[in-house]
Amino acid sequence: MKVTSLAVLATAQLAAAHFGLEYPEWRFDTLSGDERYSQWEYPCAGVPAGTGNRTEWPLTGGSIKLELHHAWSYVFVNLGLGENATVFNYTLTPSLYNTTGNGTYCLPQLPLPTNLKVNDGDLASLQVITADYKGTSLYNCADIVFRSSAKALSGDDCKSNNVTGGFVAAATQGSDDDSKNDTTSGGNNQGSGAAHIGGANTMVLSSVVGLALAFVYGLGL
Ligand SMILES: *[C@@H]1O[C@H](CO)[C@@H](O)[C@H](O)[C@H]1NC(C)=O
Ligand SMILES: *[C@@H]1O[C@H](CO)[C@@H](O)[C@H](O)[C@H]1NC(C)=O
Ligand SMILES: *[C@@H]1O[C@H](CO)[C@@H](O)[C@H](O)[C@H]1NC(C)=O
Ligand SMILES: *[C@@H]1O[C@H](CO)[C@@H](O)[C@H](O)[C@H]1NC(C)=O
Ligand SMILES: *[C@@H]1O[C@H](CO)[C@@H](O)[C@H](O)[C@H]1NC(C)=O
Ligand SMILES: *[C@@H]1O[C@H](CO)[C@@H](O)[C@H](O)[C@H]1NC(C)=O
Ligand SMILES: *[C@@H]1O[C@H](CO)[C@@H](O)[C@H](O)[C@H]1NC(C)=O
Repeated sequence: MKVTSLAVLATAQLAAAHFGLEYPEWRFDTLSGDERYSQWEYPCAGVPAGTGNRTEWPLTGGSIKLELHHAWSYVFVNLGLGENATVFNYTLTPSLYNTTGNGTYCLPQLPLPTNLKVNDGDLASLQVITADYKGTSLYNCADIVFRSSAKALSGDDCKSNNVTGGFVAAATQGSDDDSKNDTTSGGNNQGSGAAHIGGANTMVLSSVVGLALAFVYGLGL
């Protein structure tokens, strides 16, 4: 009985937490309920490269448009080079990116990292990850081709609705005690940082529930 209700809860929570990648066009509509694919699956929800269309993206970086279903999410955007990227070793979100709200989020231009130089015709894939504060993550990928003629989305094509976002200021990321550099505390800084966000008790409880849900879901479905 307990397991059944947990499983139902887990499924409801999954539907609410999944996200859509509207631009660049994702490899596959992983919200469609197609059982071959799951947004839980690293690195690209189980969707192979080349399943969808390849979008032309500007050489200096382009737009990202997401459909977010959670009250808030951390968003990570990574890039892998080649026709069939399996290593997403360039990040377009070099610090924590937080979005608040439930709806459409469009970022007009996400610049490429300075150590990445691309040429017209280069193939790549973008990996978009959304996560909550427990690190529970969902994945979608989009295949792109860099084009000098491509333009970032603008105006009506890149409107956000009910979602705001931005990089979390460095000052709020770490411990609130700057003198406590992590040499003696044995890696506890991360834990205390997370506790400040959610409150220690909430965090522990949610983690236990999250683990239970993940376990039930992994076993049951
Ligand atoms: C690729 O784009 C074409 C034309 O816009 C569209 O008809 C097709 O459904 C797209 N394919 C996928 C897999 O989304
Ligand atoms: C997000 O919005 C939809 C419809 O606009 C609503 O049904 C849903 O409950 C909302 N979810 C959250 C987490 O606010
Ligand atoms: C906007 O997002 C908040 C947070 O997720 C949600 O509670 C609210 O229902 C959303 N409003 C609309 C109009 O979707
Ligand atoms: C892409 O790479 C994966 C993993 O290395 C491999 O299994 C797959 O066959 C490759 N697909 C193509 C079209 O090369
Ligand atoms: C990223 O991985 C590719 C192989 O997929 C490699 O060619 C490239 O040098 C790597 N770049 C960095 C910055 O690690
Ligand atoms: C991210 O945004 C949510 C909602 O606004 C907020 O509760 C949370 O503390 C933020 N995370 C950080 C690290 O600022
Ligand atoms: C903590 O470590 C960072 C990175 O090594 C350094 O830049 C900073 O000055 C240190 N802060 C203190 C108070 O020691």
